[in-house]
Amino acid sequence: MTIRLVDLTGQDARIWLEPALDIYVTAMNYPRGTEIHRAALWRDHISRPGWRAVGAVATVAPTDVRAPDVVRRRLSRPVAVDDTEILIGIAYGYRGARDQWWNQQLRLGLRQSGHPEPDIDEVTRDYFELTELHVHPSAQGRGIGEWLLHRLLTGRTERSVLLSTPEIPAEDNRAWSLYRRLGFVDVLRHFTFTGDPRPFAFLGRSLPLVADDPRGRS
Ligand SMILES: CC(C)(COP(=O)(O)OP(=O)(O)OC[C@H]1O[C@@H](n2cnc3c(N)ncnc32)[C@H](O)[C@@H]1OP(=O)(O)O)[C@@H](O)C(=O)NCCC(=O)NCCS
Repeated sequence: MTIRLVDLTGQDARIWLEPALDIYVTAMNYPRGTEIHRAALWRDHISRPGWRAVGAVATVAPTDVRAPDVVRRRLSRPVAVDDTEILIGIAYGYRGARDQWWNQQLRLGLRQSGHPEPDIDEVTRDYFELTELHVHPSAQGRGIGEWLLHRLLTGRTERSVLLSTPEIPAEDNRAWSLYRRLGFVDVLRHFTFTGDPRPFAFLGRSLPLVADDPRGRS
């Protein structure tokens, strides 16, 4: 099995959106059906300024017994790019702006936790929002998430990258491990978005991340 990264375009969304949402629901362990609500939102994001998406695609021979389960299952379904290529990871984001709900939630949270307005303006002035980053569980633990993130952030002109991720006891999951390893620091902790009781953390770091791809893969 070989894995490569591909830039995903808005025009091709009808090809990749469904498998990408499937990865998202599986990786986040959300109930089936969540993807139906998210599809409209993800489609809407495509038109936002600075939107960019990267996919990780696995190429496997149909007989490759080492292929992860997801690959073998996908081969019997018509969502693959072709019969030996399937999406196993997705990352996307866009340029943050004040008229976006996520930006307004962050500003609200910072205000509620006592940050002065000039500091809030500074944090939210010029950033790329890492909106989604997911690798199918059968392909996790091989550095694909880090690879996707590097590729997504390469060449960005924003001053920083910001994201939100669920709070996890002792920060003990792959997402936290990845973000900390790459130098993301706390922006705001234990924030509850309007309409969602779960606590989230906002993390961020300055850009550029590094000059080169982490493992020289292309
Ligand atoms: C978070 C997520 C995208 C990370 O992707 P990933 O490919 O599993 O993670 P990484 O790129 O960090 O690699 C994972 C491990 O592989 C290791 N690794 C790195 N490069 C490697 C390589 N070339 N070969 C083998 N292993 C490698 C890393 O050290 C890391 O080890 P660790 O988990 O013990 O820290 C993925 O785990 C995921 O989808 N999680 C569920 C959804 C989620 O939480 N998304 C983020 C929401 S904000």
